[in-house]
Amino acid sequence: MRKRAFPVFLAGLILTGLFGIVVTSKVSGINAQDKNSGMSREEAAKLKSPVPYTKESISSGRSIFMRNCTECHGNDGKSMVDVIANATDLTDPKLWKHGTSEGEIYRSIRDGAADTMPAFQTQIRKQDDLWHLVNFIRSLWPESHRPKLSESK
Ligand code: HEC
Repeated sequence: MRKRAFPVFLAGLILTGLFGIVVTSKVSGINAQDKNSGMSREEAAKLKSPVPYTKESISSGRSIFMRNCTECHGNDGKSMVDVIANATDLTDPKLWKHGTSEGEIYRSIRDGAADTMPAFQTQIRKQDDLWHLVNFIRSLWPESHRPKLSESK
């Protein structure tokens, strides 16, 4: 009886392994798709920010930016071209490729952009924090492109 048990155990192990591989590839397949199918650009363009453009929001956005974004975009939002493959200069909306409406910026941050801008939806989970980032980034723009500052509550 002992001798028969081992092959059965081995077969079980192999089957479990195979199952694991199939499941893992399915899951990573879904993740790979998620990056670009989270929200279309058209859908994003229609989004309205629930967080008004206030000094407080911009300052919250600044601290989230300092923790998550400076390694590629630099402390001032201008790209660190030497460090990471052409991170967009966030201070100049004319150079942007993925849209400059509030919803489109939100989408670039949440879902990532091209292959090089990572998606932040798992690191920055609070919706409001993503919108604070949107507000902060817009505050880096030339005055003519910035939204009008709302009165703080
Ligand atoms: C690992 C490096 C890296 C990090 C970290 C990073 N970015 Fe980016 N980001 C990039 C690159 C590279 C691009 C340009 C993508 C492209 O080629 O279109 C980009 C593009 C963008 C864009 C789109 C600009 C456009 O052209 O429309 C926004 C908005 C943006 N980043 C915001 C952020 C914010 C906010 C954070 C922090 C939460 C952040 N990024 C963190 C590398 C990074």
